[in-house]
Amino acid sequence: MPLPKAELHLHIEGTLEPELAFALAARNGVTLPYADTEELRKAYEFADLQSFLNLYYGLMAVLRTEDDFADLADAYLARAAAQGVRHAEIFFDPQAHLARGVGMGTVVAGLGRALDRSEAVHGVSTQLIMCFLRDESAGSAMETLEAAKPYLAPRGPIVGVGLDSAEVGHPPAKFAEVYGAAAALGLRRVAHAGEEGPPAYITEALDVLGAERIDHGLRCMEDPELVDRLVRDRVPLTLCPLSNVRLRAVDVLAEHPLPKMLDAGLLCTVNSDDPAYFGGYAGDNFRAVREALGLSPERLRELARNSFVASFLEHDEERRAR
Ligand code: HPA
Ligand code: ZN
Repeated sequence: MPLPKAELHLHIEGTLEPELAFALAARNGVTLPYADTEELRKAYEFADLQSFLNLYYGLMAVLRTEDDFADLADAYLARAAAQGVRHAEIFFDPQAHLARGVGMGTVVAGLGRALDRSEAVHGVSTQLIMCFLRDESAGSAMETLEAAKPYLAPRGPIVGVGLDSAEVGHPPAKFAEVYGAAAALGLRRVAHAGEEGPPAYITEALDVLGAERIDHGLRCMEDPELVDRLVRDRVPLTLCPLSNVRLRAVDVLAEHPLPKMLDAGLLCTVNSDDPAYFGGYAGDNFRAVREALGLSPERLRELARNSFVASFLEHDEERRAR
């Protein structure tokens, strides 16, 4: 029995397996620049975040209809459930779809269909977090928030906003206004920071965006004062160990700072980020860190427990109870 866990850092577009990509390409009459799944898999050699993002955005060309998004999410939820995931807070990138002429309504209706039946079919509760692309303008982010208004909780499935895509050169402060507007709408706030970018981006995400959780946050270890703050304020970090190896944030998994981060008292969680591209789902990440870092059963239980503590579940239940 895999450890029951929550997944808090998962890009639904990053769950697009080569087999599904080719099936959707055939269904939609899209020609992919790869002969077959084997050739596509061979392209999964990344030098850094940007080289991954180029492929990740390119392959999205096969996602066109409501059914495509429903099939994508359903396939993820089935795989996640098999690896012990009981709750998933799922990111999506609306701007990457809008840019291709696929509207917010299509994306959210498709994802929402899979999410609505997830508890009954897979035993996984879900929430949806809309990410802004940090290499797009602040104005585009604000337009995206506006377009999402019909789909926000409690009427729709979107409970929060996040910030992803190319980090370096795109500090969080650029998005202060849209995060303020999101907070005013009652949305939860998370942000990628400190994956490739400096520790100062983590501080800025907390101070300027009001981020409640930091996605990755790996580079906080370069700033002891920041570590103290994250520990004191119990700010969760959603780490993605296999992603860090594939995108060369760490050289090899055996050198991942996760054990040091846990020893420092940081509220760490283990997640899969883009599992179709990085070699594994949530349970695979747990297994990989156990094997490469020699984490004890107690440490692994702590990570699983942290995933629920760091989730937005508790807060929702508190809100409902009020
Ligand atoms: N980092 C930043 N943006 C992303 C990622 C990531 O790991 N995956 C998908 N978008
Ligand atoms: Zn991510």
